[in-house]
Amino acid sequence: MTVTPKKIVVTGAAGQIAYSLLWRIANGDVYGKDVPVELNLLEIPAALGATEGVAMELLDSAFPLLKAINISDNPDVAFDGANAAFLVGAKPRGKGEERSDLLAANGRIFGPQGKAINDHAADDVRVLVVGNPANTNALIAMNHAPDVPNERFNAMMRLDHNRSLSQLATKLGKDSDAFEKVVVWGNHSATQFPDITWATVDGEKVSDLVERDWYLNEFIPRVAKRGAEIIEVRGSSSAASAASSAVDHMRDWIQGTEKWVSAAIPSEGAYGIDAGLVAGVPTVSRNGRWEVVEGLELSDFQKERIAANVAELKEERDAVAAAGLI
Ligand code: NAD
Ligand code: LMR
Repeated sequence: MTVTPKKIVVTGAAGQIAYSLLWRIANGDVYGKDVPVELNLLEIPAALGATEGVAMELLDSAFPLLKAINISDNPDVAFDGANAAFLVGAKPRGKGEERSDLLAANGRIFGPQGKAINDHAADDVRVLVVGNPANTNALIAMNHAPDVPNERFNAMMRLDHNRSLSQLATKLGKDSDAFEKVVVWGNHSATQFPDITWATVDGEKVSDLVERDWYLNEFIPRVAKRGAEIIEVRGSSSAASAASSAVDHMRDWIQGTEKWVSAAIPSEGAYGIDAGLVAGVPTVSRNGRWEVVEGLELSDFQKERIAANVAELKEERDAVAAAGLI
């Protein structure tokens, strides 16, 4: 039986993240090892030459699942028939900048792409925004796609989630996949709230195994500021780890997971998060849809941390509204 290839868009295809991400997609790591894929690469005109080079290298890798590569600088062409889209193309921050400082430069990229998704993508399209500030860029794209269900627009919190798993694994001498029920709430910014309240490892409560002082004063700031730490040490923003987390997110969204993972999805009002904001919450994925883990009792500390994220996301939303971007 011939299987129709899944059409996957990657924007910013000549950039750092794409240089890892494209190889993982072509290897079948998103849709599965039995699903052929076609890549649509979107770039700005000045980077089309470099994108040709990336495409040549992809071809040279001889991936059996990779059936076609199309390159364009036109969103209407790139998103045509798209089943999945990774919106990566955007400027990264430099040393000393916050991700929200990128809003003015990057925000305007996501309206036209949202509209092109609205007008041209396949009915089952799933969109993961990686370009920063990711949550608010997802909000912008979503607002330009009135015919696509809001739930199809996500922003990436999975890198923060994976960073949390890795910090815990190192601290407790465990494998990262032994941890359950870790959550990163809110915005992909320094305000984010990595939360171990319900986390377990090998059946034990993580909060019984680590000191509260370590949790509050080392773990939370370490995870929340890891992006800045990478920029400081590596000299440019995280790329391969971001690509790997993007694959984790899209794979779980499509293929499902019963394990709690953190995903920034449009809120329907749960946990005091204003409806419509794109915020990190605990989720599982069933039948191709994220389901928020419901019924969790929040302490005052948790409520406070989540409220700080909501306030920041509302500020970003108001700023892009004032700039006419939504
Ligand atoms: P990069 O500068 O290496 O690549 C970005 C690419 O995007 C460039 O090739 C550029 O030409 C392209 N681009 C710019 N505008 C475009 C447009 N309108 N359409 C298509 N392509 C366009 O940057 P990078 O390291 O790949 O990072 C990309 C983005 O991802 C940055 O905003 C960065 O901050 C963000 N990021 C997010 C996370 C996360 O966890 N959400 C993690 C790491 C990086
Ligand atoms: C990250 O978390 O590594 C990215 O969002 C890049 C950044 O600016 O921190």
